[in-house]
Amino acid sequence: MAVPEERFPFSGGTTDQAFFADSADRPLTMRGVTEADLPELLRVDREVFPEEPYPYFVLRQHFDAHGDRFLVLDDGACLHGYVLFINSSDGYVCWVLSLAVSADQRGRGLGKRLMLEVLRQLRRERVHEVRLTVEPTNAAAIQLYRSLGFSAEGGVHRDYLGPEEDRLIMTLGLGLGSA
Ligand SMILES: CC(C)(COP(=O)(O)OP(=O)(O)OC[C@H]1O[C@@H](n2cnc3c(N)ncnc32)[C@H](O)[C@@H]1OP(=O)(O)O)[C@@H](O)C(=O)NCCC(=O)NCCS
Repeated sequence: MAVPEERFPFSGGTTDQAFFADSADRPLTMRGVTEADLPELLRVDREVFPEEPYPYFVLRQHFDAHGDRFLVLDDGACLHGYVLFINSSDGYVCWVLSLAVSADQRGRGLGKRLMLEVLRQLRRERVHEVRLTVEPTNAAAIQLYRSLGFSAEGGVHRDYLGPEEDRLIMTLGLGLGSA
């Protein structure tokens, strides 16, 4: 599905622009990740995905191999969310591997801002399609992705991420063919 450019209005970009205050009134910034963020990244990941957090070594290796593919939400003292997105080797497809917003910061548009920035970046890179997996019961995430134009293909994929780990695969075409 082609996505009109106007669906991704520029809203401040990633770098060093504060766009929200956190619950303690500190301005939140969206930016790339640094090595010094790894302990905080691990903490946020464990908080948001308590049953299936990334082991530290996986985050470390994602950082080593794809450090420019993380965006984090930072209030200057701690992180409140992140997104990780990695392109296929031919650069045609990008998989969003993880999206997380701390529980106390949800419902304020932060998840959507992270995703919008990813989509803007991928359009600049001329990636054709964005893919992700989501639990079929994760209504908040599914609604967020649908609001960005993603749709589920092929119904529920049984045991996709292991036994009893069913997932929907959602995709979004970035419409470069029709540009
Ligand atoms: C999914 C998640 C990232 C959403 O982050 P968020 O910052 O709360 O989302 P936003 O405030 O940006 O909401 C954007 C849109 O998502 C949808 N949405 C968000 N929370 C929702 C909820 N609880 N129920 C239904 N729709 C919801 C809405 O369409 C919303 O748009 P609206 O506010 O205009 O109605 C967050 O809930 C989270 O981290 N969940 C746990 C981890 C997770 O499930 N990650 C995704 C794995 S695939």
